[in-house]
Amino acid sequence: ALAIWHQLTKYEISELAKPTVSIRERGRVEEIIRNMHRAGPGALQVISDFDMTLTRFAHNGVRCPTTHNILHNSTLISEDCKTKMANLLSTYYPIEIDDSMSVEEKLPLMVEWWTCAHDLLVKQKIKKDELAQAVRESDAMLREGYDVFFHTLKQHLIPLLIFSAGVGDILEEVIRHNGVFHPNVRVISNYMDFDERGVCQAFKGQLIHTFNKREGAMLNHDQFRELQDRPNVLLLGDSLGDLTMADGVTNAQNVLRIGYLNDKVEDRREAYVSSFDIVLEKDESLDVPNAILTYIT
Ligand code: TMP
Ligand code: MG
Repeated sequence: ALAIWHQLTKYEISELAKPTVSIRERGRVEEIIRNMHRAGPGALQVISDFDMTLTRFAHNGVRCPTTHNILHNSTLISEDCKTKMANLLSTYYPIEIDDSMSVEEKLPLMVEWWTCAHDLLVKQKIKKDELAQAVRESDAMLREGYDVFFHTLKQHLIPLLIFSAGVGDILEEVIRHNGVFHPNVRVISNYMDFDERGVCQAFKGQLIHTFNKREGAMLNHDQFRELQDRPNVLLLGDSLGDLTMADGVTNAQNVLRIGYLNDKVEDRREAYVSSFDIVLEKDESLDVPNAILTYIT
């Protein structure tokens, strides 16, 4: 088995041999990738988280903003709102990534965080036609290799479902601004509800936070229906909550879960390596997913 693994990582997908890659079960990963290769691009779909998965965690040592933080840093919200959102972030983000707490303990706190943040944002009377400028002026950055990633999926007509607990309107602006909002891209996220003057007055539909993506997948079964004939799923995430994003695909055969371990690396390595098939540390690029996609397509 090791000899075959050697062949895969030396000649076929050399990116898997990088020291930043951790894999719990090489044999399983190899089998999934070979099955996906055999079935080809027509059987594949990609389901990805957005913030800190398709976007960078940091660049030149400085943290990059999430979709919420793009709004937070923009001129669209007041100083008072900025202070309150910063307080929420410093209270709840440590909880989100705390490896000593269970998901059950975190759930009500995440609902609290998102509800408070959205209430604050709604009070700011944000206008739809001002979002593009906020994104243009932000430090948001997609991961290195994003152009190859989006282009490969478009070229092979592979559906990409972006499943995000961020702000959908901002997310769409980020991918549009980078020229990669192709027709094969679908988004499930928290969308703003604008009144007839184009002012945000609420958020639409069921709230999506980091740890209820499974319910989100079940509620959005229409989005998943068109994907049911693609049994192979490449899943990308940066949170343990992202692991359930493919649960809406009822006839999945091969699911390969890739996790970016961005923060609190030492504390969380064990949990990540035992939950994701492939774990990427200190990697701000999409090189590994791109190499796997190239091999499959
Ligand atoms: P994701 O599902 O696209 O990764 O988006 C969720 C991230 O958004 C999550 O990691 C926490 C982050 N977040 C903020 O940065 N600020 C906020 O106000 C809220 C509610 C979430
Ligand atoms: Mg994320």
